[in-house]
Amino acid sequence: MNRDKNSAPNLEVVYSTLDKAAASSFFIPVFEEEKKLDPNFSDLNKASGGALSRILETGENSGKFKEFSIVYLANHPVSRVILVGVGKRKEFTINKFRGAAARAARIARRSKSPDLALPVGSLASLDPEESGLAAAEGIILGLYRYGKFKSEQTASKNHQEESEFKHNEDENHSLRKVHLVISGEKELEFARKGWEKGKILADAANCVRDLVNEPPNIMVPAFFAEQAKMATKHLGIEIQVLEKDEIEKMGMGGILSVGKGSANPPRLVILKYQGDPKSKFTLGFVGKGVTFDSGGISIKPSENMHTMTSDMAGAAACLGALKAIAELKLPVNILSVLPLAENLPDGKAYKPGDIVKMYSGKTVEIINTDAEGRMLLGDALSYITKTLKVDAVVDLATLTGGVVVALGQTVSGVFSSSEPFFQMLMKAAEKSSEKFWPLPLFEEYGMQMKGSLADLKNSGGRYGAPCTAAAFLKEFVGETPWLHLDIAGTAYMEADKMAYQQNPYLPKNGATGIGVRTLVHLAEELSQKMNSLIQKKEVLVES
Ligand code: BES
Ligand code: MN
Ligand code: ZN
Repeated sequence: MNRDKNSAPNLEVVYSTLDKAAASSFFIPVFEEEKKLDPNFSDLNKASGGALSRILETGENSGKFKEFSIVYLANHPVSRVILVGVGKRKEFTINKFRGAAARAARIARRSKSPDLALPVGSLASLDPEESGLAAAEGIILGLYRYGKFKSEQTASKNHQEESEFKHNEDENHSLRKVHLVISGEKELEFARKGWEKGKILADAANCVRDLVNEPPNIMVPAFFAEQAKMATKHLGIEIQVLEKDEIEKMGMGGILSVGKGSANPPRLVILKYQGDPKSKFTLGFVGKGVTFDSGGISIKPSENMHTMTSDMAGAAACLGALKAIAELKLPVNILSVLPLAENLPDGKAYKPGDIVKMYSGKTVEIINTDAEGRMLLGDALSYITKTLKVDAVVDLATLTGGVVVALGQTVSGVFSSSEPFFQMLMKAAEKSSEKFWPLPLFEEYGMQMKGSLADLKNSGGRYGAPCTAAAFLKEFVGETPWLHLDIAGTAYMEADKMAYQQNPYLPKNGATGIGVRTLVHLAEELSQKMNSLIQKKEVLVES
């Protein structure tokens, strides 16, 4: 496969003890206010002529989160030490470590180090498995760059091959090897287990970033479907791609209407992974896949319209999560339905005033063609809950501008019809350090979505938009335990400082890969619950 010089490399990982960790860059996390070097690193300190401890004692590096210093060592197998602040010890979290690892990896790359040593486990005051996992995520996510369209790097390459779903890597990349430094044999298997899982999660998120960053002239519904085929090929995931005429035959008026104005016809991708054939429990993933959202006839202002290339981030996250789940061979059954369409204005486009019959039979009066995501999701949700019959379903969608106003760019909104399911999501989100916050599904919001000529209308106006959108979706879910994640603010960064400063493994610009890691943890959580409890969906239904 072709490679992209700017992307994260396929890193080799080795495990070593402190005395054997000979790497051109060596990362040491430093705590704020302690002004002291961890005695574990006193050999390195000696080799630096005491420079490391002096930098800390003098406060030249205060240990504030992300603050860093580089110290070069002469005549030593370690040629530079990178001291990175991780903040106060009592506020130290695995996410701070993930962020510091990202920072260290980028500094190492900038200084053209071929390898980086990084203490995990007790040497970093952390659990060896958790820190092995966070190290992989921090480094692999942190090294991500999307630059394949810079012409000097891609001039001779064939585009189709380059855009293969598997994340591109670079043979000539400077940083190619990571030494995970552990206290001894006892930590090795834990660190390895953590790293391997973290690598799968981060690679999947980087693949999703590639898909979301892909420009909309290339990322059209058919292209997404091809990528989904490639991504799932050797993983035991079944895939079915429905084309426009089949979508029409199925009566999926929502998907069809949104896609009508585009020369690039819609697709419906259905994915199936059976990791636990004995279990009766199946989890559903539904993702909004609008490959470009111009707003349609209710056209958006042009100022930020280009960012609507990211409007398929929900569908991409579902695909990435499924890929990671299959690679991890998690014992869980997943069905995923990804409706894909391009929302454009045209003589054939759907328009305000149209009445559309959805897959479920409900009719929808179109008030605003820019409220297109719910039209796709309505069909996909009723298909997955009523026809395919999953036991629980989670949907991810860049659904409303309102959620960005309400929660900002670092927190996604969650709507849930089941408190236990919601709690599981929050637990999964704690593992990924992705932030979610609950928003309500009160009946009032449903009232706002009642149609005058049809059963429903597709827009309830500006007030409470994320909530009315969720209330619309609820009409297509029935009794199935359901979570709706509105990731409009978190999926794509536009010169964002906050998200990056808090989480240096996120990009300042472009796709974040939000949702992938949380979905994998959620699926894992759920599979454990289902197996250890009663193998019944009642676990998710409130009594
Ligand atoms: N894709 C947009 C939502 C969005 C906004 C995503 C900003 C990412 C960043 C969605 O299709 C949309 O246009 N929503 C409208 C709905 C309204 C017309 C009811 C919105 O939120 O303004
Ligand atoms: Mn829209
Ligand atoms: Zn949209």
